Amino acid sequence: MQSVLYIHGWLLDPGAPIIRVLMNVLGIETSCDETGVAVYESGHGIRAEALASQIELHRPFGGIVPELASRDHIAKLSGLVAGVLDEAGMSPEDLDGIAYTAGPGLIGALMVGGAFAASTAYGLGIPAVPVHHMEAHLLIGRLEAETLEFPFVALLVSGGHSMLVDVAGLGRYRLIGNTLDDAAGEAFDKVARLLGLPYPGGPAIARLAEIGDPASFSFPRPLIDRGLDMSFSGLKTAVRRVVESEKQKAGGALAEAKGANLAASFQAAIVDTLVAKCIRAVEQTGYLRLLIAGGVGANVNLRRSLADWGRGVGVDVHYPRPAFCTDNGAMIAYAGAARLNPAAQTGLGIVARPRWPLDSLEPPGQAGH
Ligand code: KG4
Ligand code: ZN
Repeated sequence: MQSVLYIHGWLLDPGAPIIRVLMNVLGIETSCDETGVAVYESGHGIRAEALASQIELHRPFGGIVPELASRDHIAKLSGLVAGVLDEAGMSPEDLDGIAYTAGPGLIGALMVGGAFAASTAYGLGIPAVPVHHMEAHLLIGRLEAETLEFPFVALLVSGGHSMLVDVAGLGRYRLIGNTLDDAAGEAFDKVARLLGLPYPGGPAIARLAEIGDPASFSFPRPLIDRGLDMSFSGLKTAVRRVVESEKQKAGGALAEAKGANLAASFQAAIVDTLVAKCIRAVEQTGYLRLLIAGGVGANVNLRRSLADWGRGVGVDVHYPRPAFCTDNGAMIAYAGAARLNPAAQTGLGIVARPRWPLDSLEPPGQAGH
């Protein structure tokens, strides 16, 4: 029988036939309005995590103010990292790499995480790993579901992106569907504003929709009967028109029941559309596994509809727990571990790419990342 040597860090010992490298990777997410930090120990899972949301900070402005976001990341980051290491019972010297979101995202916010990660890693003599935020959303599904083997179809739906991806392997992503205008999360956020609901709109709409009738208004299901691309701005405009006319009829603000019916009908339109796109993507690729990821992936109706469909046709439908759908540090730590080359040179360079197409990534160890 071959012996298995478990080690921390990177040690190539020719005397040991099989070496499993156990690595502790710190993950730092600062691409937008959440400061997320976590430690992932390869083979063991997430050891500790923490998240600081900036929702209240930006609320008075009705949207994210980039400069405030950067400053708040600066204020929170080192305290969160110290707390997470403490909770994991580790010191910085126990880390084998520091992963950070390098894009896409707000440039100033990305620079905060990148500067912190690169300088700390440099001081410790370990690699800093730039991580693609959407790849992290996608890969965390594999931490949650070990049966999720490649290849699979991923529906990546967040505040800034709506994509269908043919995932052939780590770093082998082919974009097969994209949004032509607003992202699904953006549509939730904009419609929430129309209904006078707080940001982020997704959870607020989902909550209100629970007491509404999804059949009370008939909203368009854009491009539902063709292709894999998505378009949500027409749906948003249709909702705006109805909200305006309902407000006029009511002579002012909408009654809660009316708002709930609008929320439920809008949610049904978006869920129906996303479900139809996923079904078509699975049929086109012939894959029997589907992953739903990104903030909108936390939507209970979307998860339920796709899970019900999958059960009926024998397709495995996976989705991370809701806290791993929305932005978090765990997904950065996990993706960083997959991308970490422990032998990489430690430098002080920072990668920050506000725009960074997912399908430009390559498998680890190849150019392009
Ligand atoms: O992935 P994420 O946390 O941040 C980005 O990378 O954009 O996604 C945030 C988006 C927001 O638009 C938010 O409204 C939406 O995800 N979202 C939801 C739900 N929870 C968050 N949309 C629908 N239903 C939800 N339960
Ligand atoms: Zn995200």
